[in-house]
Amino acid sequence: MAAADIPSFTLNDGTKIPSIGMGCWMGGLGGGERVYDMCSTALKCGYRHFDTASGYANEEHVGRAIRDSGLPREEIYLTTKLGNNDHHRVKEAFEESLKKLGVSYIDLYLLHWPQGFINGKVLSPEEHPTFIETYQEMEKLLQTGQVKTIGVSNFSIKNLELLLPHCSVIPATNQVEMHPCLPQNELKAYCQAKGILMTAYSPLGRSTTFMEDITIEGVAEKNKCTKAQVLLSWAVQRGTIVIPKSEDKGRMLSNITLVTLSKLDRAIIDELHEMPNMHKSLLVFDDKGDGTVFGWTYEQLGWKMEVGGRVPTD
Ligand SMILES: NC(=O)c1ccc[n+]([C@@H]2O[C@H](COP(=O)([O-])OP(=O)(O)OC[C@H]3O[C@@H](n4cnc5c(N)ncnc54)[C@H](OP(=O)(O)O)[C@@H]3O)[C@@H](O)[C@H]2O)c1
Repeated sequence: MAAADIPSFTLNDGTKIPSIGMGCWMGGLGGGERVYDMCSTALKCGYRHFDTASGYANEEHVGRAIRDSGLPREEIYLTTKLGNNDHHRVKEAFEESLKKLGVSYIDLYLLHWPQGFINGKVLSPEEHPTFIETYQEMEKLLQTGQVKTIGVSNFSIKNLELLLPHCSVIPATNQVEMHPCLPQNELKAYCQAKGILMTAYSPLGRSTTFMEDITIEGVAEKNKCTKAQVLLSWAVQRGTIVIPKSEDKGRMLSNITLVTLSKLDRAIIDELHEMPNMHKSLLVFDDKGDGTVFGWTYEQLGWKMEVGGRVPTD
């Protein structure tokens, strides 16, 4: 089982991370044998980076696929995340993840969301434990040697500005929704200046908008590749990690085969979000229609979006 030939990025602690990983959110909680089969096939296709979370309720299946592959643990890069319900019990939740994954260490542990919940009730940004206190508990985990690197997810500039002055370890990555409709240019520049590498989740926009888009189609035809390869190559060429999810072997293989896009092609994709009604989230986080995402408003999250996920033009 050979590893795919894809570039790695170096994080701010000197560790390396493969630029493409397999996303393990199955579109719903759990996934059982589907997750096991997906990860086992991915390993055979050359994937060596997996992105799961305690909140996906499938860590045990990801871990079992990794163990059953027989590959040395050090050849695999494994990310999991601290769930929103666990901000007040970081050490215990981390140990539960380790146990479910069945590994002796985790490469990257992320604070999944800035907002925590206790007994099903969301905490306001000021309530204990704040994301600063939670992240500080995650920093302590580094001393155990059971986690190599820590980072955050779904953090805006506003919340990073609050967090960073209190960090003794700068997050290595910030994992956010990122694709041509939401290139996150401002956040990306901010993170770059702070030494934080961005990870793009839903880099294919969950296979909705882009699969019908004539701009992406044009670039794909020109480069004799798939639309997904255009999206992933664009993302990696702009220096971001991508974690596309696929259960299909053919799509897995093409997703891990990057093409080199010209400067012009990249510029065309860079401009896509400037077209009418194209600068937006492609997820349905606020499907309750009240503009909240897991209990926090866009303002509390620091996301410059309107209800529905559209980014207003200045
Ligand atoms: N930190 C967070 O809060 C957060 C939030 C969301 C997601 N994530 C992470 O990011 C990962 C990826 O995001 P995502 O799963 O939301 O969306 P995504 O990777 O953008 O899209 C996945 C969808 O695209 C399809 N697909 C995959 N390859 C394709 C191809 N080559 N051509 C056409 N369709 C293709 C998949 O179907 P098939 O399986 O049938 O191929 C699936 O329906 C997640 O799995 C998770 O690990 C993190």
